Amino acid sequence: MRLLVLNGPNLNLLGIRQPEIYGHTSYTDLVNLLNDWSKKHKVSLDVFQSNHEGELVDKIQAAYQKIDGIIINPAAYTHTSIAIRDALAAVAIPFVEVHLSAISQRENYRHISYVQDLAIKTIEGQGLAGYLQALDFIKNYLDDSDDPSPST
Ligand code: DQA
Repeated sequence: MRLLVLNGPNLNLLGIRQPEIYGHTSYTDLVNLLNDWSKKHKVSLDVFQSNHEGELVDKIQAAYQKIDGIIINPAAYTHTSIAIRDALAAVAIPFVEVHLSAISQRENYRHISYVQDLAIKTIEGQGLAGYLQALDFIKNYLDDSDDPSPST
């Protein structure tokens, strides 16, 4: 199983950026947490962050036929990017949408997600733990979909 974690703009500033909303843990700590999960579960994991919409689109396109599942926190692009939505729809790779904060309880402009209806699940407001929940969820989802369907 090959998984990809994608993080959008300003998530590289975790720990510095509005810690009262996004927490005190750094982006490096997040990457270490994700890599620990991948070692524990023996799952290949690529982790990528970009502040540029096109780079995220490129990374999603490059995942086509190479990656089995995606965890994505598109950050501010959640609320603006039809390009990221279209890329996710194009590659048709199952993905979980993650947000550190509870976007549905914040400003109105954060209530719209351009990717939510395509996601197999959305996790919000769980902080860093949300990424681990997303990884567990997509791993179980992919393990289950590998099961041969009953022939009866
Ligand atoms: C975020 C929520 C977005 O509204 C915001 O623009 C972010 C981070 C989150 O993880 O809570 O950059 O996706």
